[in-house]
Amino acid sequence: TFVVTDNCVKCKYTDCVEVCPVDCFYEGPNFLVIHPDECIDCALCEPECPAEAIFSEDEVPAGQEQYIELNAELADVWPNISEKKESLPDAEEWDGVPDKLQHLER
Ligand code: SF4
Ligand code: F3S
Repeated sequence: TFVVTDNCVKCKYTDCVEVCPVDCFYEGPNFLVIHPDECIDCALCEPECPAEAIFSEDEVPAGQEQYIELNAELADVWPNISEKKESLPDAEEWDGVPDKLQHLER
């Protein structure tokens, strides 16, 4: 499965959802997650993310392993998103800022 990681927080560009053939993205206030039971590992979303926040489960950067569990947990409670929308207003400023987990809203 693929996993959305730290750099999506406060950016939420949503380019990823447009290419997903099974619509397995779920949306929170300032972050998206992938449902691990629905992702078919097609890898189409990975290169689409301007923030380079999407990784295969076994390639998640060191220190971001907790996002694997977070994707699974939040995909069960957040609503589905299948169409691209405006990124968050300060997305460019937040793109690349490290350790954004503390800013994740539920
Ligand atoms: Fe969707 Fe494919 Fe990305 Fe999985 S890898 S979330 S199926 S686009
Ligand atoms: Fe997030 Fe990248 Fe998608 S910033 S919303 S994972 S395009």
